[in-house]
Amino acid sequence: MKIGLTYDLKDDIEAKGQDFPEDALEEYDSIEVIKAISSALRSLGHTTVRLGGGRRFLANITGRSVDLVFNIAEGRGSMRSREAQVPAVLEMLGIPYSGSDPLTLAMTLDKPLAKQVVSDAGVATPTWRLIESTAQLRQLKDSEIPLPAFVKPAFEGSSKGIHLNSRADAAAGARKVARDLLKKYGQPVLIEQYIEGDEVTVGVIGNAPPVIVGIMRVIPRKKCKTFVYSLEVKRDYLNLVDYECPARLPQQVMKRIEKSSLRAYRALGCRDIARVDFRIGRDGIPYFLEVNPLPGLNPVSGDIVIMSGKMGWTYRELISGIIGAAIKRSCL
Ligand SMILES: Nc1ncnc2c1ncn2[C@@H]1O[C@H](COP(=O)(O)OP(=O)(O)OP(=O)(O)O)[C@@H](O)[C@H]1O
Ligand SMILES: [Mg+2]
Repeated sequence: MKIGLTYDLKDDIEAKGQDFPEDALEEYDSIEVIKAISSALRSLGHTTVRLGGGRRFLANITGRSVDLVFNIAEGRGSMRSREAQVPAVLEMLGIPYSGSDPLTLAMTLDKPLAKQVVSDAGVATPTWRLIESTAQLRQLKDSEIPLPAFVKPAFEGSSKGIHLNSRADAAAGARKVARDLLKKYGQPVLIEQYIEGDEVTVGVIGNAPPVIVGIMRVIPRKKCKTFVYSLEVKRDYLNLVDYECPARLPQQVMKRIEKSSLRAYRALGCRDIARVDFRIGRDGIPYFLEVNPLPGLNPVSGDIVIMSGKMGWTYRELISGIIGAAIKRSCL
C-alpha cells in the first residue's frame, strides 16, 4: 500500500522568541521518529511518501495520491483544535488515515471537555475548576479551590506548562500558578485536585474491540509523595524514573484501570491507538487525567513504545498494530 506520512517537525515550526513559552515546540517530532515509522512501514511491505505538515502538507496532499495516511501531525498554532487540522483536510479529500477523527482529537486536547465526557461515562477524574481569565480567578473563593491543587494549561499536552511547582498545598500558591499560566499560555487553566498516588499510563490499540497494550507504572527513583511526571522528569527520564510494565498493582486495581481505560477510549471515540493517563488514589480508584490519541512514537523514549517493548512487542509490531487497525477500519 502507498502510505503518506503526516507530521510536524520541531525544525519546521517558527515558535521561538519572547512571544512563545520555552516549551512551545515540545509536542513536535524529530526526523528520527519519521525515519523509524517509515522504516517500520516499509518492512511491512508498504511504500511511504513524506507529506509533512502545515502548508507543505497541503501542497503535497493535493499533488500526490496515497492509499492511506499514517497521521502523527500535531497541527499548527496554539488553538485547542489544532490536532484536528490534518485529519479534517484528509476527510474533506476522502483520504483514509490512521488514528482518531477531528472531533476526538479536538475534544481530547481540551482537557476539561474530555474530563466531562469521561466522567459522564462513569470514569473517576479529579474534581476541577476551569478558569478562563484573571478576573474570574479573582472572583474564585478559596473554598472553591480543591487542595492540594494541581494547575495546568487547559489545552496542552506533551507536559507543556507542567512542572513540580504545578502542585500547590494552599489556595494562594494555586492562584499564583494559575495567574502565571494564564499569562504565559494565553488560554484557560485547569485547577484540579492533586491525586497523591501511583502514576500509571495505559496503551490501548485497535477497534471493535480495542485492547490493552499494557499498563505501565512510572516510579520516581527518589520516593516522593508529591511526584509530578513533569517536563523536567520526561526530559531526564533515564535518571529520574523507572518504568514497570505490567504494573505490579493489586489485581482489583489493575482490573479497574483496564475498565476505565477502555471506557474512556470508547467515550471519547478514540480509534486505532491512544494512551490514557491516570493517578491511582489512596482509595484504589484510578483517576483519569487525560487521553493522548496521538501518543509519542519516538522509537526510544515514547512512553507507549517503552510500554509495548516491555510487553514483548517490537517497534515494527506496534506500528503494524496501528496501521493494521486503520486498514481494517477503513475496509481497505
Ligand atoms: N490532578 C493531578 N494529580 C496528580 N498529578 C497530576 C494531576 N494532573 C497532572 N498531574 C501530573 O502531571 C503529569 C502531566 O499531566 P497531564 O498528563 O495532564 O499532561 P500532559 O502534558 O497532557 O501529559 P503528556 O506528556 O502525557 O501529554 C501527569 O502525568 C501527572 O504526573
Ligand atoms: Mg499525560
